[in-house]
Amino acid sequence: MARVYNFSAGPAVLPEEVLKEAADEMMDYKGSGQSVMEMSHRSKVYDEIIKEAEKDLRDLLEIPDNYKVLFLQGGASQFFAEVPMNLMKNKKAGYIITGQWAKKAFAEAKIYGEAVELASSADKTFTYIPDCSDLAITDDMDYVYICENNTIYGTKYKTLPNTKGKILVSDVSSCFLSEPMDVTKYGVVYGGVQKNIGPAGVVIAIIREDLITDDVLPGTPTMLKWKTQSDNDSLYNTPPCYNIYICGKVFKWIKKMGGLKAMKEHNEKKAKILYDFLDESKMFKGTVRKEDRSLMNVPFITGDDDLNAKFISEASKAGFVNLKGHRTVGGMRASIYNAMPIEGVEKLVEFMRKFEKENA
Ligand SMILES: Cc1ncc(COP(=O)(O)O)c(C=O)c1O
Repeated sequence: MARVYNFSAGPAVLPEEVLKEAADEMMDYKGSGQSVMEMSHRSKVYDEIIKEAEKDLRDLLEIPDNYKVLFLQGGASQFFAEVPMNLMKNKKAGYIITGQWAKKAFAEAKIYGEAVELASSADKTFTYIPDCSDLAITDDMDYVYICENNTIYGTKYKTLPNTKGKILVSDVSSCFLSEPMDVTKYGVVYGGVQKNIGPAGVVIAIIREDLITDDVLPGTPTMLKWKTQSDNDSLYNTPPCYNIYICGKVFKWIKKMGGLKAMKEHNEKKAKILYDFLDESKMFKGTVRKEDRSLMNVPFITGDDDLNAKFISEASKAGFVNLKGHRTVGGMRASIYNAMPIEGVEKLVEFMRKFEKENA
C-alpha cells in the first residue's frame, strides 16, 4: 500500500484507522448484512449511527443543551445564504473580511439585506487578522460574521471580535475540532466537514436554540430553514448518510486520541516544526503575520515562481502531494489537519531542507 503525505486543503487527509474500519464494515455493517451506503436513513441501525455521531460531537465540544447540532448539505457555500435567510430580521449585518470565504459570504448576504464591512485585511492581501476590539457595530445589526480560520491565506483569529453583544456567526470549516472551542461565545458555528472531519457533502452547524425560528426571510426554501432541519433532527429528507457515518468515526478517533486538548497539542507540535523551519530558512518564507498564524493551513513562498513550481513538482514525486497554494495566491500551502501525522511534517521539513541545499 503506497500512501502519500497529503497536504490538501480539502478534501483532505483522514485518519487511516477510520478508513480501515470503514473498509472492514463496507459489505456488512455490524451484522446488518448491508453497507451503510445501502441502508434506509429511517432504519433503527442508521438512527443509532447519526444519534451517536451527534452525541460524540457534543461530548468533544461540550456543547450545551440549548444548542442544536444539525447535519446539513450544500457545502459551506450554501450556508453563506442560510445565515442571512435565517438571521436577518432587521436586514442588516456586519462582516469582517479576512479572505475569499468571508468575501463570498459577505457578497451572498448583500443579496438579502444590508451587509456592512466592519473591518478588512485586504490591504495586505489578507496576511493578518484586523483589530476587532472596537468595531463600528450598530444596534440594528442582526449579527456579526467571521471566517475564523482562513484556509487560503493561513490566518486564524486568536481572540474573537468584540461583537458588542451581537450574535457571532463563525465559519470554522478549516479549524473545526482542531482545538477546544467555547461554543457559548457564538450564536452559530458551522463548517464543511471536508477538511478535519470527513468526506465532502456534510455541513455541521451548531446553532443556539433561540435563533431557530419560523421568522425567516420571505421566500426562504423549506430545506434552508434551520427550523425545518432542527424539527426533523437533520432527517427532513435523505441526509448524506455514509458521510455522516464517517464523521462519526472521526469523532470517536479524536476521543481516542485524547479529545480536543490533546488534538491542540498535537497540532501545535506539527505547526511549530514547520513554522520554525520557515523562520530559519533563507529560501522559504511564511507569508502570515506571526501572531495570526493558523495551526491548520501554512502558506509559504520562495519569492521565485519557477523555483516554487520546481519545488511543488519534486515534492510531489517524493510523496508530498497537494502543496500548491490556492490558485488565487500562488506559492505553496501545507494544510496540516488533525489527521496529518507528526512524521508527515517532519519528513516534509527534511525534504525542504534538502531542496534548499540543492537549489541554493
Ligand atoms: C473557510 C472556508 N469556508 C467555506 C468554504 C467553502 O466550502 P464548500 O466548498 O463546502 O462550499 C471553504 C472551502 O474550502 C473554506 O475553506
